[in-house]
Amino acid sequence: MTMMQDPAGSAAQVTTQAVPAVPALPSEVATTPAVRRSEPYMRLHWTDSLTGAVGYLVVHTLRGGLATGGTRMRAGCTVTEVEDLARGMANKTATFELPVGGAKGGIDFDPKDPRAVEVLERFCEAMRPWIDSHWVTAEDLGVPQHLIDEVFEKLGLGQSYHAAIRRADDPAATLERVRGGLNAAVGGGFLLGDVIGGYGVAHACLATAVWWGQVPAETTVAIQGVGTMGGAAAYYLYEAGIKVTTVADAAGTLHCADGLDIPALLDLRDGYGEIDRSRLPEGIERLPRAAILSADVDILVPAAISYAITPDNSFDIRARIVVEAANAATTPEAEAMLAARGVPVLPDFVANAGAVAWAWWLLLGEVDDNPQNSFDRLRAVMHSKVALLLAAWADQGFTPRETGHRWADEPSPLTGPVRIP
Ligand SMILES: NC(=O)c1ccc[n+]([C@@H]2O[C@H](COP(=O)([O-])OP(=O)(O)OC[C@H]3O[C@@H](n4cnc5c(N)ncnc54)[C@H](O)[C@@H]3O)[C@@H](O)[C@H]2O)c1
Repeated sequence: MTMMQDPAGSAAQVTTQAVPAVPALPSEVATTPAVRRSEPYMRLHWTDSLTGAVGYLVVHTLRGGLATGGTRMRAGCTVTEVEDLARGMANKTATFELPVGGAKGGIDFDPKDPRAVEVLERFCEAMRPWIDSHWVTAEDLGVPQHLIDEVFEKLGLGQSYHAAIRRADDPAATLERVRGGLNAAVGGGFLLGDVIGGYGVAHACLATAVWWGQVPAETTVAIQGVGTMGGAAAYYLYEAGIKVTTVADAAGTLHCADGLDIPALLDLRDGYGEIDRSRLPEGIERLPRAAILSADVDILVPAAISYAITPDNSFDIRARIVVEAANAATTPEAEAMLAARGVPVLPDFVANAGAVAWAWWLLLGEVDDNPQNSFDRLRAVMHSKVALLLAAWADQGFTPRETGHRWADEPSPLTGPVRIP
C-alpha cells in the first residue's frame, strides 16, 4: 500500500499493484469531496523540440485518481487559458455530479499547420503517464475527436478515454461499447459523439425560451463558431424551429433576417468548421467577423474562442442573454458589465457541459448507443438546471454563474471506487 495525497488535502489509500508496462492505478478512492480550488493541483509545461511549440496539461482536481478535459490546439494558447479551462472542467464535473475531477490540455500551435498532427502526437507521447492512468481527454478547439483518437490508437492506447477504459474488467469490451455510443448515427448524417454537446447547448437556449414563455419560432439566435459545438447547436436549434439569423466562423459573419438554412450551411463546412463562401446560398449577407457579437437577436451563443466577450465589446451585445458554448467565452469583467445591463450569462460549465456529462454517462454505462436515451436524459437535465439558474437570477438577483458555482462547490462525495463496466 502507498499513500497518495488527493487534491482535497486528505490522504487516500491506494494500492500500487504492478500493471505491466504502465503506471499503477489507485483501486480505492477518497470519500471526501474535491473542492473547487483557485490554484490547480498540477501544471505541466512541455516544449516540442522539433517545432518549438509549447503545450500544457493542467489538472485542476483529481477525484478517484481521475481528471477529465479536452485538448485544444490554437496559435497563442497560454497556460493561463488552460488553467481557466481546467478550473471550468472541475466546475462541470462537480455540477453534473460526475465521479471525476477537471483537467485540460492546450498546445500553442496553428492546427492548420501541416505539422499539427505530429505536434499533437508528440504532446500525447510526453503526457503518456497521465493519459495512460489519470487524464481522460477528448476533442476541443482545433482538435477533432477522430484525430485525437487516431493519435491514441497510434500510441497503443485505443481511444482518448483510455485512462478510464483501462479500469474496466474487460477493457476491450468497454472500448467497443464506448465506440458504439460515440459513433451511433443520428439525423443530419452526424455521429452522436460529435453532436451531443451542441445538442445540450441548443437545449440551454430552448429552456431559456421556455422560461421567457416564448415559442421557438419567435426566438432568434446568433452563433459565433460553427464547428463541433456551434454547428451542432445551430442544427438542433434549427430543427426545433428557432430562427438562427446569424452565424460566424473564422472567416466572417453570415446573416439572414428570415433565418439561415443551417443544414445547407453546415454542408459547406471544411474540416476546420469554415463555411465555403464560394457556394453560399442566395440571400445571405456577408459581414465582418466581429459583427456576430452585435447581432440583433434574443440569444447570443459564443461557440468558438475563449475570451470572445470582453469589456471592449460587451456594450456591442444586443442579445437578452448569452449562452456560453465556448469555454471561458466571457471575461469576468465583461460578465459584470452585462449583468449590470440586465443581460445574464449562462455559464459554460452548465451550458456546454452536456459533452463531458454524456461522455461519462457513456463510460459509466448509464447511456448506450441508442441516441434517444442520450438526448432524453441530457434535455431533461439541461432544462431543469437552466430553469433553476434563471429563477435565481430573476427572483434573487444571483447571476447564473454565482448559482452554478454554489452547485460546483458542493460536489457529491464519492462513496467508493469508480466502476467502469
Ligand atoms: N468539442 C467539444 O466537445 C467541446 C465541448 C465543450 C466545450 N467546447 C468548447 O467550444 C468551443 C469550440 O470548440 P469546437 O470543438 O466546436 O471547435 P472547432 O474547432 O470544431 O470549431 C471552431 C469554430 O469556431 C470558428 N472560429 C474560430 N475562431 C473564430 C473567431 N475568432 N471568430 C468567429 N469564429 C471563429 C471556426 O471557424 C469554427 O467554425 C471551444 O471553446 C471549446 O473549448 C468544445
